[in-house]
Amino acid sequence: MHSAAGPAWAVWLEATSIGTAMRQWLWLYPIVEIVHIVGFVVLVGAAFMFDLRLLGLARGVPVSALADHLLRWARWALVLVVPTGSLMFIAHATEMSSNPAFRLKLLLIAAAFLNAGLFHRWPFRAVGDWDTEIAAPLPAKLAGALSLGLWTGVLACGRLLAYF
Ligand code: HEM
Repeated sequence: MHSAAGPAWAVWLEATSIGTAMRQWLWLYPIVEIVHIVGFVVLVGAAFMFDLRLLGLARGVPVSALADHLLRWARWALVLVVPTGSLMFIAHATEMSSNPAFRLKLLLIAAAFLNAGLFHRWPFRAVGDWDTEIAAPLPAKLAGALSLGLWTGVLACGRLLAYF
């Protein structure tokens, strides 16, 4: 019998058959975690490559073409990352919900998406003016630098979950 203490919703979530299977089936948790890792490697890797282009690397590669290619992969990676993250959360909902690293991780993910959304609504709209060989405007560079920092923070918090 698994005993857990915490908010009622977390105790309930952890006791569901999914939570129980995640803790009891020998290979399930590691497999889910590996899929999570594959997903965030693609997501964060694509974001990093795009951000470095905004900061001025590989200026010969059109930003619009890179966005088309990389950001498509980043969106598909979410299909791996979010369900697997949720499954691991369900397995240890009481611990995770009170884990400061987990809370910070979710906040940083939200901030990273907000930053990406603002970038698309603002500097990226005029990408035709700075698509190739021209330095990106300052707001685009700032968005790129912020994105690098936020995703690094998400990775760090993800790894630190095990230590809190
Ligand atoms: C969106 C980008 C995300 C990134 C970059 C990310 C990153 C990470 C990293 C680096 C780890 C540690 C892996 C390891 O040490 O083996 C991890 C584990 C984990 N992540 Fe994520 N994650 C993301 C999204 C999510 C989401 C959306 C959730 C929950 C809804 C989540 C929940 C978890 C949980 C519960 C663990 C397991 C911790 C453990 O077992 O010690 N993650 N993540």
